[in-house]
Amino acid sequence: MFSSSLLQYRRVVAALDKQMRTLWHTSNIYLHPGIHEYATKLTDKLPGDLKVAYIVNSGSEANDLAMLMARLYTGNYDIISLRSAYHGGSPYLQGLTAISTWNYKFPRGFGIHNTMNPDVFRGPYGGHKCRDTPNDVSYESRNQE
Ligand SMILES: Cc1ncc(COP(=O)(O)O)c(C=O)c1O
Repeated sequence: MFSSSLLQYRRVVAALDKQMRTLWHTSNIYLHPGIHEYATKLTDKLPGDLKVAYIVNSGSEANDLAMLMARLYTGNYDIISLRSAYHGGSPYLQGLTAISTWNYKFPRGFGIHNTMNPDVFRGPYGGHKCRDTPNDVSYESRNQE
């Protein structure tokens, strides 16, 4: 039992030692071939022209980047986000995440506008007032007002 544990421990230490001598910390500021190799393997599995990857460490960082890229690409600053939607907790996302338990009493979310979720079942624009409602019986009943 003890020798088996010791063997496992030595294997883990050896694997860690090998990894530490190869690459022990990385981010997008280090041009290590491992990132390129990983991105190539990843994008090789994607369809069509999806051949660019930007490696991030969390959903929050991905959404931060998505907002930045959208603003840079469009030249527009304002963004609409739906109430009751969670997008992450970074300072940049404090406004995008429109859930009271995640919002605090300080300025946040510049350029972000929270709007209601178009609930097609119970929302004020749902039911028979909603063109695409799934709970309407027919096109005719929708247009008999
Ligand atoms: C839809 C959505 N966006 C963003 C996030 C944030 O991801 P992370 O916790 O990795 O920053 C989450 C996390 O639950 C999520 O569910």
